Amino acid sequence: MNRHLLSINDLSRADFDSLLATAEKDFLELSQRDIKKVPTLRGRTIIDLFYEKSTRTSTSFELAGKRLSADVINVKADSSSAGKGESLKDTVLTLNAYRPDIIVARHPHVGAPAFMAAHTAAHVINAGDGMGEHPTQCLLDVFSLKQAYGDLRGLRVAIVGDILHSRVARSNIAGFQKMGMQVALVAPPGLLPRRAEALGAAIFHSLDELANVEVVYLLRMQKERHEGANFVPSLREYISHFCVGRRHLREGQRVLHPGPVNRGVEIENELADSSENLILQQVEAGLAVRMAVLYRIIIDSAAVAKETSGPRLTTRV
Ligand code: NCD
Repeated sequence: MNRHLLSINDLSRADFDSLLATAEKDFLELSQRDIKKVPTLRGRTIIDLFYEKSTRTSTSFELAGKRLSADVINVKADSSSAGKGESLKDTVLTLNAYRPDIIVARHPHVGAPAFMAAHTAAHVINAGDGMGEHPTQCLLDVFSLKQAYGDLRGLRVAIVGDILHSRVARSNIAGFQKMGMQVALVAPPGLLPRRAEALGAAIFHSLDELANVEVVYLLRMQKERHEGANFVPSLREYISHFCVGRRHLREGQRVLHPGPVNRGVEIENELADSSENLILQQVEAGLAVRMAVLYRIIIDSAAVAKETSGPRLTTRV
């Protein structure tokens, strides 16, 4: 792995394979034990720095660090000095003074985690930067799909909903393609990025396309990023054309959603409660995958440091 995980493109196919294997072999089963903790990252310090709302990502990163025995500090921007006007740079320099090993960062602005990486010696993991990327979401989705389908090569997925404002879509389109999957985007024109074709995915404007895929990946309408503008003529109309229910699916199709789910907007109630969706498996996968990322980002760079440091004359204990 690279020093930082800022974009899904920071990961090679080999990184994908080894991270997913570590998550499966070493960490998935830990949740089944009575004692859900290993000493792997004892003495390491992780700071989770969240400037945007989060349930799944923040709890899973916190739990992942704790189950690896690291010291974990959670900073929420609304209760930190950011609310008193401190700049992002000053906040990062302040936290860096504690010499953390990893900073996990979520921020409303694209590129904020990369900016942080330039001002800290810690590894930085992007936990979602505005409309930018959400690489660990992609990893956990690929992990969930591998658990459900095995080999992903040639598997067809339709990503449906507010693709324009979705960092999950941006990471997942690239990540799914890296795994050899075929990606279709299904959305009204107003919710697609300009030059969406350049992303290498086929574009559709109707749920009819769901008949041609094995996997349906639903996205939430990101109202907090619409800032008063109308990206669809009306929400009622959007729901009538793009809200997915069991009636749109055929036997064996699986539905994923990163959460939080807006019932009755992108997903019908009955589908949200049905075993056709992998939503809770995704949450479970998120913990194992984030443990793997925290572990590998430290271990891999320690291995590089060892390789490049030459022969040792003294042993430090
Ligand atoms: C996603 C996010 O924050 O980008 N949620 C998540 O991390 N589980 C998707 C969303 O908020 O819709």
